[in-house]
Amino acid sequence: NLHMFMKKKVLTLAISGLLAATVSFSVSAKTTLKLSHNNDKTHPVHISMQAMADEVKKLTDGEVVIRIYPNSQLGNQRESMELIQSGSLDMAKSNASELEAFEPIYGAFNVPYLFKDSEHYYKVLRDPEIGGKILDSTKGKGFIGLTYYDAGSRSFYAKKPIKTPADLKGLKVRVQPSPSALEMMKLMGASATPLAFGELYTALQQGVVDAAENNPTALTLMRHGEVAKFYSEDEHTIIPDVLLISEKSWGKLTPEQQKIVKEAADNSMMSHKDLWAKATEEEIQKAKDTMGVEFVKVDKQPFVDAVKPMHDKALADPVIGPIVQKIDAAR
Ligand code: GCU
Repeated sequence: NLHMFMKKKVLTLAISGLLAATVSFSVSAKTTLKLSHNNDKTHPVHISMQAMADEVKKLTDGEVVIRIYPNSQLGNQRESMELIQSGSLDMAKSNASELEAFEPIYGAFNVPYLFKDSEHYYKVLRDPEIGGKILDSTKGKGFIGLTYYDAGSRSFYAKKPIKTPADLKGLKVRVQPSPSALEMMKLMGASATPLAFGELYTALQQGVVDAAENNPTALTLMRHGEVAKFYSEDEHTIIPDVLLISEKSWGKLTPEQQKIVKEAADNSMMSHKDLWAKATEEEIQKAKDTMGVEFVKVDKQPFVDAVKPMHDKALADPVIGPIVQKIDAAR
């Protein structure tokens, strides 16, 4: 009878509708990846990671969304790495200096005066046998590297010019929490204080430390130029920022999504190159004009000589030696 037929039909429709809903739900289940970092949202690295996130969202039709949390909101770099390792955070942007404490191979980038120029640097970062190998080195250990971001060269800044290693004598210099950074300061004759980046402004202001070292954007974007008026351009290291993802989160992505994320990360590294150069120039000008920071030219040779033992030691090291050799050969 018609009534029964209609009832059946409605039921079938309802069931198939439900099935369709379930199927389409599981196919388009959205994956949200939380990304933690310690810079401001006006920082070029944040802008470049946002570009990557936009590309990923577009190419996955909104199925993979990367949500970026700046300013150490989800913890400083060390804490973020620990959250990644325990599987409670998806992604983080750290720096090869701090990563040395998690995976010694990143220490290769912490050897002072390693890179000849920007061309040498990018050649190394993009070489599958050097930069690529380092990013892959932590597979099976909880996280993998996706790409690098240029973080410029690092120089000293303080309340006085630092023109020779002798000027560092007796100064407490904030360094990143990394064995290489401590060793470098020892060789240069300063006393090193490891601190998280986010704690540095107050430490400088209150005299907990007398000096710091970083790229020039720290003067304006972290306001360090308010308390340190001399930036002495000895350019002792060029240490990249590194974008990482937990293996747990990586495993949740389909192979196709993984490919999209990896490519978007690579693309953002290259668009960041020009953005970084431009932003650095602009921030230097701002530091001079609005904060009265003086940029001091420095004869680098005495600094180069002071830290030379680190390069020799690195070459002899079983973990970073082969990498440093390749970096030297790529000069
Ligand atoms: C760079 C880098 C930061 C890092 C900082 C530091 O500015 O971009 O991510 O934390 O150095 O000195 O700690």
